[in-house]
Amino acid sequence: MSNKILVVGSINMDMVVKTAHIPQPGETVLGGVFFMNPGGKGANQAVAVARLGGKAAFIGKIGDDIFGKQSAHLFDQEGVDISGIFSDPESPSGIAMITVDDSGENSIVVAPGANAHLQPQDVAAAFGKHPDAAVMLIQLEIPMETVRHAAQCARDKGLLVILNPAPANSSVSDLFHLIDVITPNEHEAEMLSGIRIKDLSSARRAAERLQQLGVKSVIITLGKQGAAVLHEGRFHHIPAPVVDTVDTTAAGDVFNGALAAGLADGRGLEEAVAFACNAASIAVTRLGAQSSIPYRNEVLFNIMN
Ligand code: RIB
Repeated sequence: MSNKILVVGSINMDMVVKTAHIPQPGETVLGGVFFMNPGGKGANQAVAVARLGGKAAFIGKIGDDIFGKQSAHLFDQEGVDISGIFSDPESPSGIAMITVDDSGENSIVVAPGANAHLQPQDVAAAFGKHPDAAVMLIQLEIPMETVRHAAQCARDKGLLVILNPAPANSSVSDLFHLIDVITPNEHEAEMLSGIRIKDLSSARRAAERLQQLGVKSVIITLGKQGAAVLHEGRFHHIPAPVVDTVDTTAAGDVFNGALAAGLADGRGLEEAVAFACNAASIAVTRLGAQSSIPYRNEVLFNIMN
């Protein structure tokens, strides 16, 4: 079994409606299928780690309600360690309202609920239960002071710290010195670097800027184009397989979970990114967040064929 990965982040229940196009402000559209599906960037990444062969433990907060209980139960079934899940009797569990259009693009509004009450002291208490953890994976759907505390705890204990700066938030730049690997998409990389990404050469300049700001290695995810990697002075473009996209929801989460699982398994960064691009390319061919996450054997089969 590979090294343990601590995922610190959000848990939501996703309410998804398929629609021909995403409504403009003030517009009502008649949509199609509706379904509920467990989500939340943190939860999705933890499940991705587990399905892709990693050993995952989750730190997060749910409400004392049916959605929270379902999410924790599902984690348990996936083999994710849930000893770091706290319950907040005062708040509902997080939910996300998602519309997915015919091209697979989405729009998401999150009501954070209990996720907004995950405190630094919760992280400190849960962190102590995992002295064997080797990697920490964090996103930005929890309070920024909790993100900062998690990154500092991980850095102090010598864990590899991966930050997925999603959703975009410019105030994260003051903790770049604590981050080993950052994984923005194009939009997030533009916000954090101030450089508009139009092609690989502008992606390289944005990655170099993020390194100058204190991050060790930079991976910019480029959707269908794969990912751009700046690591140990080398810049690489790693392409993604060509697929028919059904729903891009959680593609970034699958990428990050796969990346963490690959690194915890001892793969080099470029090899782990190629594994992650393959995993994400499978996820976008399926509807939903956790319902779209592939298993390790599917990804290995994809790589071999
Ligand atoms: O990244 C996709 C996720 O973003 C969804 O599952 C939704 O819950 C939001 O957190």
